[in-house]
Parts: sequence; structure tokens; C-alpha cells
Amino acid sequence: MQQWLAEAPANIALIKYMGKKNKDKKIPANPSLSYTLNHLRSYVSLEFSSDKHDTWELLELPGLDNNFSLSASEQQRFLGHLAFLKEQFSYRGGLVVRSVNNFPHSTGLASSASSFAALTKCALLALSELTDTPELSIEDQAKLSRHGSGSSCRSFFSPWALWDGEKVSAIDIPYDNLIHEVIIISHAPKVVSSSKAHELVETSPLYLSRIENATHNLHALLEAFRANKWADAYSICWREFQEMHALFSTSQQPFGYMTPDTHQILDRLHEEWKQTGDGPIVTMDAGPNIHLLYRSDQAEQARLFKQDVLIGNFDVL
Ligand code: PMV
Repeated sequence: MQQWLAEAPANIALIKYMGKKNKDKKIPANPSLSYTLNHLRSYVSLEFSSDKHDTWELLELPGLDNNFSLSASEQQRFLGHLAFLKEQFSYRGGLVVRSVNNFPHSTGLASSASSFAALTKCALLALSELTDTPELSIEDQAKLSRHGSGSSCRSFFSPWALWDGEKVSAIDIPYDNLIHEVIIISHAPKVVSSSKAHELVETSPLYLSRIENATHNLHALLEAFRANKWADAYSICWREFQEMHALFSTSQQPFGYMTPDTHQILDRLHEEWKQTGDGPIVTMDAGPNIHLLYRSDQAEQARLFKQDVLIGNFDVL
């Protein structure tokens, strides 16, 4: 039986995508910049189905989590994107889609970027072969992936991706080998999904200045990276995730993801920066977990922070 297989990495945004300018076309309100997490990956396979309907199953790969599963609504969203891609090729046959991540399930880590990018890659590979159509460019694949999950379009480029409006591309930044860690503050599923967050933030009074602020943060961050001003990059990224979380807490139905543990670790990181004048870039997505990015020459600092503060208290990926 013919089978197609593809994989894609996750990414972490330093300048956040939050809010949509055009909901149908999935155009973001502001530009975003991300670092690709090549160690956190999703795998997707496709196979013909005897049935006309598409179905989801676990993809069993050696060494990967056999307990991985998608909830009914997650399966529906995944299959909805497959249906959208099939429509682009006027393909009507049924397919079995299987998927798995190489990072443990229930880590509280959203995997929509890696899983939708892998699904898009796999489906486009299969559909171009099945309909005898030339393969799409990476840019065009990323554009289609955006319809499944906005942030997935950045997972097509590495190590850095810039997404602005309809355009997403790789961008040259003189830090291409960062050490990434994520501190798992909570394993619990999110109370408010990022799709819902995109809608709710529009009701915040801070949303009016958000596009301008994010664009300003982006330019300041690119300038800091290019001038090797790591401490400035840290301050801009800190401000940026705090601004996104302030949108959450000031929306008409306020919501938030930070827990007392999140605040405790953020305070500790900030204190270390104040004392030593150096440290990791810190950022957070729409969730309670904390992402750290260290330069490769900070490996020892990363090891010590993990050993002294994190091990025994939190899972670290
Ligand atoms: O791709 P979505 O719709 O799950 O939105 C992702 C939103 C954030 O993760 C909070 C920020 C980002 O730019 O990745």
C-alpha cells in the first residue's frame, strides 16, 4: 500500500502572532518572528483509505510515544485542514492520516505548529503525486499551512522565520545555534485555546496599540541581534511576551495562563540577569510554560540553572 511520510519542527515566537487582520485568509494582525525548534518534531503519514471518509490514527514509530492521541475536536481540526488541502487539488478519495510527536504528550506544549506543518507537507506530497501536479515551492506550502494553524507557516524555515501578512520566509540572524529549553510549569490542557485567544484579545483596549508595539519590538529586536546586543534582545523579548499576556488579562472576558510557579521562575530569571548581566532570552506562549534560549557559549550557565533551580521541581524539555 502506498504511503507518504513527512515531518516538521515546532517553533517558538519571540515576536508573537496574536490577533488576525483577516480571519478567512488567516492574515495576522502583526508580523512575528520565531526560532525553529528542530528537536521538537511531529511526524505524519498518509495512506489510501477503503472508506470515502478521512480518519485519524496514531502513527507508530520506533522510540516514539505510543500513548499519543488527539481529542475528538483536535482530530476534527486536523481532518478539516486535510479536507481544505484536498479541495485545493479537487481530490475526493478518502485517506488515513496518522501522526505522532517526538515530545511527550501532556507536556502542556502546544504542538499545533509542528503537527500542521507536517500534515501540510505530507498532504501536498501525496496530492501532487496523486493528481500529477508539480510540487509547490516551500513558500506556497507554508502559505497553505497557515490555514490549519497560523504559527505552522513559520515551521517551514530554519533557524529563523519571519511572517508578515501573506509572506513568510527565512531571515538571517547572527545566532543560528541557540540552546532551547522549556520549563513545564503545568501539564494541564489550556483553558483558553490560542484560536480563542486570537478572538478575545481584540476586545482589549491595549489591542489598539498592539500592531504598532509588535512592529516596533520586531525592528528593535532585529537591530539588537544584528548588533550582538544580547541583553537588549532579552529586554525586548521580555516586554513582548508580557505585552501579549497583558492583552489576555485586559480582554473583555479576562483570562490568563501564568501560575504562581510561573511568576516565581520569571522572578528568579530576572534576578539572575540583574546580578550577572547575562542570561537566556525568556519567552512564553499562550500557556504557563517558560521557554529559554541560551547562546551556545552559555551552555554551562544553562546546565547550572537547570541543576540548581529546575531539576526536582519541574520537567524540562
Ligand atoms: O498558530 P496558532 O493559531 O496556534 O497561534 C499561535 C499563537 C502564539 O503561539 C501564542 C504566538 C505565536 O506567534 O506562535
